[in-house]
Amino acid sequence: MKNKIEQIKKEFLDQLAKLKNIEDLRALELKYLSRKGELSEIMHGLKDLSLELKKELGELANKAKIEMQTKFTEARRVIESYGKKDDFVDVTLPGEKIANGHLNPLTLVQNDLEDLFTSLGFIIGDGPELESDYYNFTALNVPPLHPARDMQDTFYIDSKNKNGEYDLVMRTQTSSVQIRMLQKYGAPLKVIIPGRCFRNEATDARHEHTFYQCEGIVIGKDINFSNLKSLLEIVGKRLFGPDTELRMRPKFYPFVEPGNNGEYTCFLCNGKGCRVCKQTGWLEIVGAGLIHPDVLRAGGIDPEVYSGFAFGFGLTRLAMLKYGINDIRLFNSGDLKFLEQF
Ligand code: PHE
Repeated sequence: MKNKIEQIKKEFLDQLAKLKNIEDLRALELKYLSRKGELSEIMHGLKDLSLELKKELGELANKAKIEMQTKFTEARRVIESYGKKDDFVDVTLPGEKIANGHLNPLTLVQNDLEDLFTSLGFIIGDGPELESDYYNFTALNVPPLHPARDMQDTFYIDSKNKNGEYDLVMRTQTSSVQIRMLQKYGAPLKVIIPGRCFRNEATDARHEHTFYQCEGIVIGKDINFSNLKSLLEIVGKRLFGPDTELRMRPKFYPFVEPGNNGEYTCFLCNGKGCRVCKQTGWLEIVGAGLIHPDVLRAGGIDPEVYSGFAFGFGLTRLAMLKYGINDIRLFNSGDLKFLEQF
């Protein structure tokens, strides 16, 4: 009897392995597992045996039945899935190409600058794009009605504070984050703040209402103008190549004293003069200067103890120069034909 059970199981499994279609499967079920199937017959036969044998063989038959049933269910699942399209994977077909995104050229240049400055020991700061009039102007030595406000066409926000003043602007420069950084970190400090700025420009190929700058501040004891100059020289050589020279010309910015315009040898013509540098051989890239004592004070820093410098790169301008982009409006156009080139 024992052998018979084993034999039935073996036969069943052998045949199960050879099954090809659902009809064979049904036939097999009928033959072995149904109420009139071979296994049931054996189980019926058990009733005439001794109690001991009944127990032993009953257990054996039951185990065999469970095993056969499990294997059968598995086989049925496989056979039923044949011919169903969804489950069929043709591994020989070529894969579906996944489209890669592109980093905006502004992001590429920003990443470059962040790598460069963090390698020089700077941290990276951030500040709000919707800014208070105070941080964007007043604290930077540009009080209300001061003519220096005319240097930047500003988007004022149409909402008054409780004193009835319009005190919110879209920040016109990343310099708006200077005081925030001083207040947050104190001295000494080395930080850059890349970010988006806004001005009420009539747009054309060279002007855009939304653009990027990268601000930098260094505060410490005995920080002086040569520190600023040597830093800007290092940055110029890293950005435009080892032969790049820097020249600094006086320029008024209310929050620095003295204020300067940093210009680098035009890397397109190597200083010979071309259309891009307007035949001068120099590219105007960065505003800079020693931070005005009033600004340090507004940031809670004692100008008798600490000094510092600040600089602001036109990040959008850098990207235009680096990639030869001749229309600033392309950056915000969302035009994939433009973006996919980077
Ligand atoms: N914020 C100035 C601008 O937008 C640039 C600047 C930054 C100048 C820091 C001096 C120091 O024109």
